[in-house]
Amino acid sequence: MLKQLEEKFFQIYPDQVGKEIRAFFSPGRVNLIGEHIDYNGGHVMPCALEIGTYVVVRMRNDEKIRLYSENFPEEGIIEVTTGQLEYDENNAWANYPLGVIKEMTKSISNVNGMDLYFVGTIPNGAGLSSSASIELATAFMMNRLYELSYTRLELVQLSQKVENEFIGVNCGIMDQFAVGFGRKEKAILLNCDHLTYDYLPLPLKGAKIVIANTNKKRGLADSAYNDRRTTCENALLKIQSIFSIEQLAELSSKQLEQVEHLLTEEEYKRVRHVVTENERTLKAVTVLQEGDVEAFGALMKASHLSLKEDYEVTGVELDTLVEAAWNHPGTIGARMTGAGFGGCTVNIVKDEEVDSFLSRVGSEYAKKIGYEASFYVVDVGDGVKELTENLEVVNR
Ligand code: GLA
Repeated sequence: MLKQLEEKFFQIYPDQVGKEIRAFFSPGRVNLIGEHIDYNGGHVMPCALEIGTYVVVRMRNDEKIRLYSENFPEEGIIEVTTGQLEYDENNAWANYPLGVIKEMTKSISNVNGMDLYFVGTIPNGAGLSSSASIELATAFMMNRLYELSYTRLELVQLSQKVENEFIGVNCGIMDQFAVGFGRKEKAILLNCDHLTYDYLPLPLKGAKIVIANTNKKRGLADSAYNDRRTTCENALLKIQSIFSIEQLAELSSKQLEQVEHLLTEEEYKRVRHVVTENERTLKAVTVLQEGDVEAFGALMKASHLSLKEDYEVTGVELDTLVEAAWNHPGTIGARMTGAGFGGCTVNIVKDEEVDSFLSRVGSEYAKKIGYEASFYVVDVGDGVKELTENLEVVNR
């Protein structure tokens, strides 16, 4: 892979040959359970994937920053200078690395230019965190290049800040955390209130994680996401008149009954999702530790139904894909994953049934929706890392 990356880099930037280049990899993520509760202080269970974003970088002696993505060749090489790092709505992808570079160069006095080559193996906009992946790839790279001393957690928090403030998407911390802290063959249990975490065994004996992409166009997902957050914030304010909680996920099912009269019907449903999803995630930890994959699958199903009926973030595409999966005998568990409104489902499927799953679920989906879903059989991998660190630095 390094060789290939190096070759591609020099095809795009054939000048200045002779300077050192370095390469980094940052994964995508899939969330197994604990959806829409990171920003409510709940527990989530994501894992990092072996698909993700590669970035190759070479420092320059001037102030030019040049960026190229193999996934957006029509954008060509984007060129800015170190003193001119602004959000540009005409950029399809470059705002993510530019936002991170801007944030990180605030603390550096002598900023050099760079040539950057990106290539991603995550489908864009599918809810597998291609944006968190490119943010962390850039943040980790900058930390190494300039020998800054950010901790992994600080890089995660900085990337989330860029997404919130520079990009303008009010996401929680789950995606950036999973990309930063992933571990091969493990799920992460993250407490989003205290940012404490643990690694858990995956429920994968004799089974695979299959991600199914609805291929639905993204549309208004970001504004609907921000709406859900606002509803949760309003409900929290009302609940705080009775219970001294700081985040919605602190509420128990018992307390939920006592606040119903304070809330609108919509707020009540949203809060019920938050409370029950947090409880399901904690239950999922217990069943995983007992190796009870069937029980894990049942919790995934309950999670999807709650996201469909109470949080209302699924839609016909995700529901069709998940229902087709539930009807397949090889499925251990299936649910939507990520923000919803389109994007992907996550499925745990018995090894010997994967082929039949892909063809049956795929054809049921295409028949009902009118276009095809895409499927990825994925492996769970490590968090963001440098590819060149244990090797002799790639040179020409
Ligand atoms: C998106 C956000 C996350 C999280 C999920 C829903 O992926 O970026 O912070 O809120 O949606 O669980």
